[in-house]
Order: sequence, then C-alpha cells, then structure tokens
Amino acid sequence: MIKGFIFDLDGVITDTAELHFQAWKKLADDMGWQFDREVNEKLRGVSRMDSINIIKDHNNAQVDEEKLVALATLKNDIYVDSLDHMTPNDYLPGAQELLNLLRKEGFLVALGSASRNAIKVLKQLEANKYFDVIGDGNSVSKSKPEPDIFLFGAKALDLKPEECIVYEDAESGIDAAKAGGFHSVGIGPAERVGHADVRFDSMKEATLFEVKSHFSELF
Ligand code: BG6
Ligand code: MG
Repeated sequence: MIKGFIFDLDGVITDTAELHFQAWKKLADDMGWQFDREVNEKLRGVSRMDSINIIKDHNNAQVDEEKLVALATLKNDIYVDSLDHMTPNDYLPGAQELLNLLRKEGFLVALGSASRNAIKVLKQLEANKYFDVIGDGNSVSKSKPEPDIFLFGAKALDLKPEECIVYEDAESGIDAAKAGGFHSVGIGPAERVGHADVRFDSMKEATLFEVKSHFSELF
C-alpha cells in the first residue's frame, strides 16, 4: 500500500532548472565556454561538481580541481542570488495543489533533492509545511542515479521503498527511484523519463487522481 510520496525539487516542485541554466550560462560565457540548453539537459538531477565536470569535458578544457571548485562556487553564488526573487507564486502549475491534497489525505511526504540549496528554495516557496522529512544534497554522499537520497527519505518516514511513490523530472532520478525499489512518476518527455512507471508531460497532469488511477491496486 502507498503511504508516502518523495519529491524531487528542481523541475518538479518549482522551475529552478531554468535558474540553474541561467547561472551555468553566465559562468560559461565568462569562461568563453560553449554551453546551451542541450548540454544543460545533461545536468538535470546531477550534483554541482558533476555538472561542472560535464561542462568542462564538453569544452575539452583543462582545469585543475581547485579551480573547478572555485568556478562551481561562482556559479552557485549567481544561482543563490537569483533565488531571492522566488516567491510562493513560483510553484510549477499543479505542484502546490498536489502537496495540499497529500496533506489533506494524510500521506507522509519527503523531499529527495540533490541540491544543497533546497532549504533556501523551500523557504522562498514557503513550502516547509508540506514536508515531514527534508532530504537534500547534504543528506547523502552518493547522488542520483544511486538510490541513496530516496532511501534516506523512506527510512526517515519509516516506510519501505515499495510503500512510496517518487516524483522525478530527471533521467538519473528515475534511475535512482528504480534502483531503490520505489514506484516512480516521471515528469517530462519520454526521451528523458519514459522509463518511469508512469509519465506525465508536466506536474499539472500528474494529479493524485491520475496517479491513484495508475497505481489503483496500491491504494
Ligand atoms: C538538482 C538539479 O536538483 O540539484 C541540478 O537538478 C543541480 O541541476 C543539483 O546541479 C545540485 O544543486 P545545487 O543547488 O546543490 O548546486
Ligand atoms: Mg529535478
């Protein structure tokens, strides 16, 4: 039986994916590096340091580890500044309605994000009230596609993976959910999350009603 839900943050609850893109783009432009939305797609769900390594390799650039950390910090400063403009109006359509309904129906809810900035994003959205457990980039050391962040959330909720549904917009996030034995809902195109148990184009379609219909034997 489904007792809990675990949500990715960026690209599921709010569109920080765009803000991450803008911040990486600014850094890449300053460095004279090529970076576009196609490369950005490879960063979805991927940790900060893994992201800069992907961008560096895409440009065949030689950068030592210390400089890479400094560049990732610069990108993060730009990203964190951009979060100041985020408000409770910035939920992705459907996300807040779903979180409200889950509270009303008494499901347990965890956040399972790779971001080390998740606390700030939740604060800007005033979303803390929707989560029983916050798992973020500081909670585990192995990032998606490893299942650790979702296993952390399930354990803290005192649930088994098979009692939880994970919402994810990243290929690596669906991989992580499946590796951990969770049920999965993919948000986005089939090329990215077609391997989820069920997929929706956006959060607007991924309502509790639709999800209950899909996993009807589990509710
Ligand atoms: C994920 C995003 O949620 O968090 C990635 O999808 C991002 O794009 C990652 O790189 C790490 O985020 P942060 O805020 O710790 O740099
Ligand atoms: Mg995401």
